[in-house]
Amino acid sequence: MLAEDLKVLLASVNSLSIKVQYFHWNVEGDNFPQYHDFFGNLYEEIYSSVDKIAEYIRTLDTYAPGSLTRYAELTIIQDQLKVPRAELMFAELFEDNAKMIELLNHCFASASQENKQGIANFIAERLDAHEKHQWMIRSVLKKARA
Ligand SMILES: [Fe+2]
Repeated sequence: MLAEDLKVLLASVNSLSIKVQYFHWNVEGDNFPQYHDFFGNLYEEIYSSVDKIAEYIRTLDTYAPGSLTRYAELTIIQDQLKVPRAELMFAELFEDNAKMIELLNHCFASASQENKQGIANFIAERLDAHEKHQWMIRSVLKKARA
C-alpha cells in the first residue's frame, strides 16, 4: 500500500540523513576536508526530500509520522552508535543506500499500481538522486589503480 510504503520511506530518509550528518561531524583522517564536505552535501540532499514525502502522505488522506519513536519502528536504516573509520563509514553508507534504492523501487511500483503518477514521478527523481549517490560512494570505496 502506497501510503504505508511512503511512511517507511519518510522514516528511512530521516534516519539516513541523521546518520550521514553524524558521519559529517565525526569523520577523521587524511581526506578530512573532502569527506566532511561530501557527507555535508549528501545529508543535505537526502534531507531535502523529507517535506515532500510527508506532504504526499497527506495527499493520500493519512497522517505523516513525525516522532523518533515512530521513525525507529518504521525505518529500514539501522542506527550507528559508534564512530567507524572513514572507509567503514563509506562501506556502511553503500549498503544503506542500496536498501534505499530497493525501497524506492518498491514505492515506485506501489505508486504506479495505485495510479498516482505524480508520486511515481517524484519517486523516480529520488531514485535518480540515490543512484547518483551510489555511484559517488562506490567511487570513494574503489582502490586507486596502481
Ligand atoms: Fe556542517
